Amino acid sequence: MKTIGSFSEYQETYQRSIEDPEAFWNEIAEDFLWKKKWDSVLEYDWSVPETKWFSGGMLNITENCIDRHLETKADQPAIIWEPNDPSASAISMTYQELHDSVCQFANVLKKNGIKKGDRVCIYMPMVVELTVAVLACARIGAVHSVVFAGFSSTALAARINDASCKMLITSDGSYRGSKTIPLKDISDKALKECESVEHVIVLKNTEQDIQWYPGRDLWWHLEMRDASAVCEPTPMQAEDPLFILYTSGSTGKPKGMVHSCAGYMVYTAYTFKNVFQYEDGDIFWCTADIGWITGHSYIIYGPLANGATTVMFEGIPSYPNYDRFWKICDKHKVTHFYTAPTAIRTLEKHPTSLIEPYDLSNLKVLGSVGEPINAEAWHWYDTHIGKQQCPIVDTWWQTETGGIMISSLAGVTPQKPTYATLPLPGIQPIILDAEGHELSANEAEGILAIKYPWPSMARTIYGDHERYKQVYFSAFEGCYFPGDGVSRDAHGNYRITGRIDDVVIVSGHNLGTAPIEDAINEHPEVIESALVGYPHDIKGNALYAFVTSFNTEVDEARLYKEICDQVAKSVGPIAKPDRIQFVTGLPKTRSGKIMRRILRKIATNDLERIGDTSTLLNPDVVEDIIAGNEEMLTSS
Ligand code: PRX
Repeated sequence: MKTIGSFSEYQETYQRSIEDPEAFWNEIAEDFLWKKKWDSVLEYDWSVPETKWFSGGMLNITENCIDRHLETKADQPAIIWEPNDPSASAISMTYQELHDSVCQFANVLKKNGIKKGDRVCIYMPMVVELTVAVLACARIGAVHSVVFAGFSSTALAARINDASCKMLITSDGSYRGSKTIPLKDISDKALKECESVEHVIVLKNTEQDIQWYPGRDLWWHLEMRDASAVCEPTPMQAEDPLFILYTSGSTGKPKGMVHSCAGYMVYTAYTFKNVFQYEDGDIFWCTADIGWITGHSYIIYGPLANGATTVMFEGIPSYPNYDRFWKICDKHKVTHFYTAPTAIRTLEKHPTSLIEPYDLSNLKVLGSVGEPINAEAWHWYDTHIGKQQCPIVDTWWQTETGGIMISSLAGVTPQKPTYATLPLPGIQPIILDAEGHELSANEAEGILAIKYPWPSMARTIYGDHERYKQVYFSAFEGCYFPGDGVSRDAHGNYRITGRIDDVVIVSGHNLGTAPIEDAINEHPEVIESALVGYPHDIKGNALYAFVTSFNTEVDEARLYKEICDQVAKSVGPIAKPDRIQFVTGLPKTRSGKIMRRILRKIATNDLERIGDTSTLLNPDVVEDIIAGNEEMLTSS
């Protein structure tokens, strides 16, 4: 894999990549194993929108992630797995073992009727079998749809139904710190609403009691017992779908982003190698969950395509203590550590004596992803974890982009705290003003857009190409619109300033406000609600719900709890509002649209910039809400 080794080489490569993108990506793609080479590098028309990379090419991503390393790396660990319980044994799975397990499980899928193109939902804890299941799907061309195992049965059912998944892979339960989560029970509940699922494969993990549905349910270990470890990889067209991964939208149901085989592989592999400057023998640990895109791209596909050793951690940073991350870095001699600002901010609140006992001298590179990293967290990370010896890559990207788009290259291009810095080769960001005019001055602030295709962009929203067009390609003609605000300094460094739509990033999780409001509104005593984000020391943002109720005398404590329970059930515990203010009315435009902008100002205590409220349908409620907000904050 081509690796950029100096700033001047980056500049030269970047220039080349935008002057002749096809020649550039053509050369990168040559580094992979293809069953048939492509006929054309790129065909696109964003007015449709349609984008095709490496059209005519045929490949299987698992052959690139596993088989081609076997000659030289059969005995090298592909995955190091660290359990939730620190006294349990870690697992090291070599490339050969991974190959055999993936082939076995691919045969299990086939035996149970899964064919190329079928959708398979995976709802599992962070155990090695999760990666095996993902790769087994890819091996036979089934489209995996991993659903984060913290989601509720309602959220799981919605995702299974949206993609008409034919199979669900889950476990009896999962460990999360001191808690055990009944994944099979949650799955059973979800499946009451899902008709498409024919079989459920259940991994024995926590050994807790579960209900069993004969004919539908199958034990993982029993199915694997006689499965052959030989399974030829199914040749896939470059543009065949590899997976669906759901992300929150600002309105309506979650969006099933569809990623394709070839472009995704080429781009995640290239960015993994270059951003992190990974070298053979390094140990790469990305702390994300595989239920999110970061886990897909930088725990599984990017590292394995490079023949790397990737760490998977089952647990959470606070269990059994807030030293767990550092203990794991020491134990497994981690060289690359990639986490989210919310984790850094949490750990920063704890004494550094929790870090000191551990040997972090193997660390070479630190990474950040998921939301803007504030200066304080950046410096703490740099000083206490990197000991000012490790470059920090602040990587900006999205579920939709598939791979890292804007980031420094570790130790190669300059870093600047709170800036994601420069675009990766092939990425052409621009800044637009509210009317869609490009701001050409170097120093600028506005709306981020990308003006040229890159290989790993999501190709559609599953089952709803019109929505894909609406959300990403309609705001500004000819550009991809990520929904983020941005500024740029005189040297061309980009700083992401946050979402400009109704998505709130809480502890690194992208939460659309609409489904949470829907959940709140389901409570029989609630008339309607509006949810906004406000800054939070640790989570980055927290959720503030303004709620109107049928009851004039609301028992606020009870209703608060019931609403939180409702949200946890419908969306997941992560989406529970931190504050709920019961109000007599919500500010509305004359056409009846809730003015979230005003509520956002109240929630963030930015009252001076509330603006003109006289044109509202009900200007009086604003004063009442401000008074109620003050009262709530002083009494809490
Ligand atoms: O707002 C940006 C923020 O996270 C959003 C994408 O969220 P998601 O699809 O869940 O993917 C997260 C992991 C790639 C973006 O639109 N975001 C992500 N990385 C950064 C960031 N904001 C600032 N700096 C980052 N490094």
